[in-house]
Amino acid sequence: MERFRVVGGGPLVGTVRVVGAKNSALKLMAAALLAPGATTLSSVPAILDVSIMAELLRRLGCDVVHDVEGGTVRIDVPERPGHRADYELVRAMRASISVLGPLTARLGIADVAVPGGDAIGSRGLDLHAAGLRTLGATVHVDHGYLVAEAPDGLVGAPVQLEFPSVGATENVLMASVLARGTTVIDNAAREPEIVDLATMLVEMGAEIEGAGTSTLVVTGVEQLHPVEHTVVPDRIATGTWAFAAAMTRGDVTIEGADHRHLTFVLDKLAGAGLDVEPLPGALRVRGTEQPTAFDVVTLPYPGFPTDLQPFALVYDAVAKGSAMVTENLFEARFHTATEVARLGADVRVDGHHALVRGRERLSAAPVVGSDIRAAAALVLAGLVADGVTTVEGVGHVDRGYPHLDADLRGLGADVVREPVPELVEGLL
Ligand code: UD1
Repeated sequence: MERFRVVGGGPLVGTVRVVGAKNSALKLMAAALLAPGATTLSSVPAILDVSIMAELLRRLGCDVVHDVEGGTVRIDVPERPGHRADYELVRAMRASISVLGPLTARLGIADVAVPGGDAIGSRGLDLHAAGLRTLGATVHVDHGYLVAEAPDGLVGAPVQLEFPSVGATENVLMASVLARGTTVIDNAAREPEIVDLATMLVEMGAEIEGAGTSTLVVTGVEQLHPVEHTVVPDRIATGTWAFAAAMTRGDVTIEGADHRHLTFVLDKLAGAGLDVEPLPGALRVRGTEQPTAFDVVTLPYPGFPTDLQPFALVYDAVAKGSAMVTENLFEARFHTATEVARLGADVRVDGHHALVRGRERLSAAPVVGSDIRAAAALVLAGLVADGVTTVEGVGHVDRGYPHLDADLRGLGADVVREPVPELVEGLL
């Protein structure tokens, strides 16, 4: 078992590169199931979750070649893939449930393990199931598996999502492209990753209108064909680096970033005194002496992304003034607050609000990250803490960031991986 050893230091300065979004790449890999033949994705991040999805697709009978260094994944889908996604893989990565829609559409049956508890909340599947039912599937839970069946094929219908869930929108969208007739998805999620998925589906031959708005209109087609597609840049990784520059009062150029997908966040940073400069194919963020704290309310896109909330919390902890951070999407997402308090931050949590009173610096301590973003945010917190902070949860970070520690070193930080001492490991 490893942990990060972070030495608190000065500003981060230099250039870092972001590639395709994790949250898009995984769904695009699932979407490949919709067409027999070889689909190739590029700008795929070198992260553990992509390897897990590759393994899941292999177990469904696909031939998957994952070039980690080159950032490509080639998925050769057989005429008749398998239809069961095992618990072993679904529990390792919740995004595995995005094979539900494509398999039901292609095969008329899908058995996908129910993911179970998640470190950031309960995260139900009711909207996924309701959407597929509206398209004519029967859906029930059988021995821990969500079983969707539509032996005579899915039929287009109006689908009203109770909440603009990203995952449910994606599953219903992928199911509807091969359904007979027209599907209208109302209250659809509008995230750039949904637009990326819709774009690839259209390239595959699907008929979709309204991507990026709350209403998706899908006219079902007989079949789709494989394509080559480049994954949309990772806006959450971009936001991570923007906050890293802000909280360390550094100067970071983020190559490969698309600032248009982060308008809300960047406006907040600019309003707090940061110098935010969009460049062609890049974004430069320069920190000031001590930027001002700002309130954050997480909301579906284009609101403030819940995935950046832990970074905002750490930022506010070392900013000038006080701020309220409100989490509306996941009920258990204030883990960072309790851990960053161990680093001396003045944070008080009350339900889904956290009141943060900024101070000049934090004070190093051992902390534990509970999910991808929490763990990464704590690594950044270590950079603005005096002394040596250790952060457990390296496995979480590797699920979402190709090489966070190496990238940080490239910007002048002192961050390394080290084994968790045996005594500590034995007690865990
Ligand atoms: C995706 C992202 C995640 C991000 C989230 C919100 C991936 C792999 N993950 O997760 O990083 O934080 O969007 O931007 O893309 N809900 C239900 N029933 C459902 C579905 C969702 O109650 O059937 C609830 C969830 O519990 C949660 C809220 O809706 O409270 C948002 O979830 P959703 O948008 O579906 O997020 P994910 O797709 O799981």
